[in-house]
Amino acid sequence: MSTTSFAERIRFLLAALVSLAVLLLPLGLVRSQQKKTVPPVKERTVKTDPVDRRVRQRADSIIAQMTPEEKIGQLSQLFLFGESTKAEESARKGEVGSFLFVTDPAQINRLQKIAVQESRLHIPLLFGFDVIHGFRTIFPVPIAMAASWDPGLAEKAQSIAAREASAVGIRWTFAPMVDIARDPRWGRIVEGAGEDPFLGSAMARAQVRGFQGDSLGSPDHVLACVKHFAGYGAAEGGRDYDACYLSDTELWNVYLPPFKAAVEAGVGSVMSAYMDLNDVPATGNRWLLHDVLKENWKFQGFVVSDANAVKDLESHGFARDAADAATRAFTAGVNMEMGFVATNYDKHLPDAVKQGRVSTSQIDEAVRPLLETKIRLGLFENPYADQARVASVLGNPEHREAARIAAERSAVLLKNQGGLLPLEKSAYKKVAVIGPLADSKQDTIGSWAFAQDIKETVTPLEGIRKKLGSAVSVDYAPGVQLGRKFPSPFLIFLKEKSAAAWTEQQEKDEFKKAVDLALSADVAVLFFGESQIMSGEAASRSSLDLPGKQQELLEAVVATGKPVVLVLMNGRPLNVTWASEHVRAILEAWYPGTQGGLAIANLLFGDAVPGGKLPITWPRNVGQVPIYYSHNLTQSPENQGTRYWNEESTPLYPFGFGLSYSTFSFSNLKVSQPEVGLGQTISVSVEVENTGTRAGDEVAQLYVHQKAGSASRPVRELKGFQRITLAPREKKTVQFTLGPEELQYWSAAERKWVIEPGTFDLWVGADSAAKLHATFKIR
Ligand code: BGC
Repeated sequence: MSTTSFAERIRFLLAALVSLAVLLLPLGLVRSQQKKTVPPVKERTVKTDPVDRRVRQRADSIIAQMTPEEKIGQLSQLFLFGESTKAEESARKGEVGSFLFVTDPAQINRLQKIAVQESRLHIPLLFGFDVIHGFRTIFPVPIAMAASWDPGLAEKAQSIAAREASAVGIRWTFAPMVDIARDPRWGRIVEGAGEDPFLGSAMARAQVRGFQGDSLGSPDHVLACVKHFAGYGAAEGGRDYDACYLSDTELWNVYLPPFKAAVEAGVGSVMSAYMDLNDVPATGNRWLLHDVLKENWKFQGFVVSDANAVKDLESHGFARDAADAATRAFTAGVNMEMGFVATNYDKHLPDAVKQGRVSTSQIDEAVRPLLETKIRLGLFENPYADQARVASVLGNPEHREAARIAAERSAVLLKNQGGLLPLEKSAYKKVAVIGPLADSKQDTIGSWAFAQDIKETVTPLEGIRKKLGSAVSVDYAPGVQLGRKFPSPFLIFLKEKSAAAWTEQQEKDEFKKAVDLALSADVAVLFFGESQIMSGEAASRSSLDLPGKQQELLEAVVATGKPVVLVLMNGRPLNVTWASEHVRAILEAWYPGTQGGLAIANLLFGDAVPGGKLPITWPRNVGQVPIYYSHNLTQSPENQGTRYWNEESTPLYPFGFGLSYSTFSFSNLKVSQPEVGLGQTISVSVEVENTGTRAGDEVAQLYVHQKAGSASRPVRELKGFQRITLAPREKKTVQFTLGPEELQYWSAAERKWVIEPGTFDLWVGADSAAKLHATFKIR
């Protein structure tokens, strides 16, 4: 055989192999080479045009007919619990523009009929409610939805919430809550999207779109209200309602962006916050409400105060008396006052007008956007709820299905030693379910849910039993009870009665029962965390430890030597440092909503794969708070010991962190140009490959750091992310764009927004500790 013919044969063989691969590729048989490109996510835009001329004219023609009292009536919003002839009378006299907390469609229609048919000018009422993470169908709490890193999911969830709420006649929700929160002691951290302004802005826009639809007045949608403007999440010490002090840099670069994003997405209303912002209460803060929101951002909608926040201007030591409070909130830019049984506006603005402290044209300016909103919502033409539709909308099984998917997509896998999860269904004959949260419908739902049918909620225990059927014995022991030292003001809203407190002897017996149960089982699944009233408004804590005797029970169960899975149900990072060292698997399930139990069972037994990521840095203990990933560089940053001598200064889990049942790798990071001019855009691409054996999701995260500038810049800032699904061995190229929007910042030195020439670091990866690095320059 000649050498030539041998070489030819090899060439022929290679060519044949290549052609075979080419033939097989479209069939998906050559998996390792399969590669797709995922372009940057383009968010759907919402119509944010200035108010239509015809709407304005119509509002003005109504204003022209109104008495000062009727105008001030429109500026008043009242809580209403149950039937009230006083409320009917106020509607008849035009003394109120809106009620909140009425959820019965028959009552809504009755009151509306009085306003529309019996009031002098026939102005419809606007019914509002806290539709925070669902109305009848409850989705995971907002912090959980943020952990999905999937704005499309948040949009869909809120559009379902809007459909259900609007079906009963509620046309206004007090959401989204977009307060950036960097202190897990603050109870309301559960209501927002966590610590980051970029993720927070994406979630804010998505929720506004979900609630309002393409434009205000879209059928089956509601008016959104972005809250609490602004700085509430920075309450000192994490103590709810306490004052906050924020530098201009923090305000412009961190705390205000999600509000601006909501305004740009066309949000129709804004709620002013309770607390002092740099010594001026937010509800009396003209700089905030007028200069920033209305003048600078050209906000076209209206501002409502938080509940009783106008009255509270007096308690803050800001207003002299109730009359002064009304005038100061009003002149600061609060259009509508939310009050309990009466408003300060109603009581004191008429006199303020008579005495010339407030002019008629100021009152007209304040009432105009309210009337425009009612017109745009279509309330004049279509004021009533269609009661015949209510049952089918609220009972829609597709809504519950969406809630289950949302709960699966928001769970975060924090640890999975030796691949304990997912649990193999057939491998266990006896499963011990332990913990006070495993079988509580109320705690599966979480705070800020009031209109759900509690019976529809599936607890984790129920979900697991349903999944495993009768072949596996699933036994339950709560082990411990949870309680607050100071009771929650929200207790009255709970639909499930808590059991009577155990005696000391019962406590011991129940604890022992739980440990014995673990001993007798093949695997123990623990549902620990916080009950729902431990998180939310008026639910701040000075500790992040597992409340009650949960830590003790955790240690006792681990000591049995049985495999242990810890499922966390909570709305804030908790101290799980011990667990991170001693427990084999930790799954953060948050408060997962109506279908939470089914979702958790799917995740535990591998019918769903966790893909969520932390929207907040997870501290090792409370002493590290505040701790967030986008801090500035310090002197000798590499020397840990100069920061705390007793403890790492790094978090337990970094922002953006979350595992999967599969593994992923990032490679081939490319920046379109090494250098761009000021104001230009660069493209970044990276390859993500599923290197494991199961299909799963990864969130590609892009972080940027400006190396030098007129002011110090955070060590890293999130500037792009995409959640993608990959089959085993599948590879996708993810693309990001970085433009002026991402590269600008508010410079404390220049005291303005700047984009500065210089070098930028860039990292892409699976969390904020991503290592894959590139640089680019702005000329
Ligand atoms: C909360 C708001 C809420 C309002 C109405 C207040 O206590 O701070 O977030 O929208 O009550 O329920």
